[in-house]
Amino acid sequence: RAAYEMIVVSNRLPVDYVESADGTPGWRSSPGGLVTALEPVMRAEDGAWIGWAGVADREFEPFAHDGIEIIPVPLTADELEDYYEGFSNDTLWPLYHDVIAPPSFHREWWDAYVRVNRRFADAAIEAAAEGAVVWVHDYQLQLVPKMLREARPDLVIGFFNHIPFPAYGIYSQLPWRRQVIEGLLGADVVGFQRAADAGNFTRAVRRLFGYATRGSIIEVPEEDGELRRVVARHFPISIDAAGFEEIARRPEVQERAAEIRRNLGDPETIMLGVDRLDYTKGIRHRMKAFGELLRDGRLSVEDATLVQVASPSRERVETYRQLRDEIELMVGRLNGDHGELGHPAISYLHHGYPREEMVALYLAADVMLVTALRDGMNLVAKEYVACRFDDDGVLLLSEFTGASDELRQAVLVNPHDIEGLKDAMIAAVEMPKGERARRMRALRRRVQSNDVANWSATFLEALTGAGKIPAGVS
Ligand code: G6P
Repeated sequence: RAAYEMIVVSNRLPVDYVESADGTPGWRSSPGGLVTALEPVMRAEDGAWIGWAGVADREFEPFAHDGIEIIPVPLTADELEDYYEGFSNDTLWPLYHDVIAPPSFHREWWDAYVRVNRRFADAAIEAAAEGAVVWVHDYQLQLVPKMLREARPDLVIGFFNHIPFPAYGIYSQLPWRRQVIEGLLGADVVGFQRAADAGNFTRAVRRLFGYATRGSIIEVPEEDGELRRVVARHFPISIDAAGFEEIARRPEVQERAAEIRRNLGDPETIMLGVDRLDYTKGIRHRMKAFGELLRDGRLSVEDATLVQVASPSRERVETYRQLRDEIELMVGRLNGDHGELGHPAISYLHHGYPREEMVALYLAADVMLVTALRDGMNLVAKEYVACRFDDDGVLLLSEFTGASDELRQAVLVNPHDIEGLKDAMIAAVEMPKGERARRMRALRRRVQSNDVANWSATFLEALTGAGKIPAGVS
């Protein structure tokens, strides 16, 4: 039997299964920040990563990848529909993002969610050494902590929620609101992005279960009458800031940034949006504001252009399909109404790009638009800042992102307030160089001092410390 000391459990593996055009199978690293953060710890600690390989109806044997054991969990096509597209992304995702889109509640989806969470938990139960640390990630797997604790009370169990946790009035719509919280309370530490998320969770625990809470400690009564202490607090996630800066400093990346500017006709101002194509990101709001600025003559397509990278996401979920249609209609209208030959209003790109190309885009962008209506953190904001070693560029940032708790020197906006958003866009375009530099320096200090290595170290410290504190001691 395998015995790993450190196990990460997340819906997606750090690698995706891919078949090339000629059918050759292979694994491609998915370049998420989580992997970067955890790779060193995982290698040092004899770690295993449990997750789904990204394709349905395929079973894969565990294998080693860059010194980490990869343990793929299979999902059938039906489970993909009910657990992933259904309960995870059509129930929990909209619910936890303040019902920007209406969540659907279906009992079959819930049943699949329970079943798949069980499968992930079983894989961890099987792979974990005595006393191992198991770190479970995100809303797709909220039931796993309790399943782990029931089978393996020896484990140290952490959970981190990458997305917001909503206020009770919204959370309480969930028909399975008690089961989900019971699932999470199986962990020793439940981590959130923002202090407000941790507060919402703690209040939901009090409202639904009446457990005593003191600050970030929740006292959970066990069957034997003892109290078990669960820590619920915020650990704002970050990025590999030094890694992004290193790419930004490469001469070929800077040359590519200059080339992007030339290809766009060397406008005075390039505005940039980079998002998964998701209704939480406020892409329509920013395009509406931009379109009105062009209409009113406060901006012109000769001077200003918007580049919108919208990477494909969850394309089988109806709300996402609708959003794509709406956005593409808007892009067509804006370009038709305001574009000139050689000067489109918007360059819209519906695909993902390699990291180097993203960094070149960040370097080419005078104004970065992050207008999410709700976002757990928003790492794009941090990536932009990390890349701007020239202390230039303006970050316009929605106050409904976790990042806005830290990035106070951004131009903060309420994306629902279209007039305010327009004024903020103009202020960003016209901001004097000195002020741009002053703000960017402060933003950079913040992102450099709380990078993703720092985030994972802080979480793991809290986690390994937590198991050792006896109940009743604060
Ligand atoms: C968000 C979630 C992640 C998820 C990612 C991409 O960042 O917090 O858990 O992996 O979106 O979404 P996908 O559904 O493609 O995994």
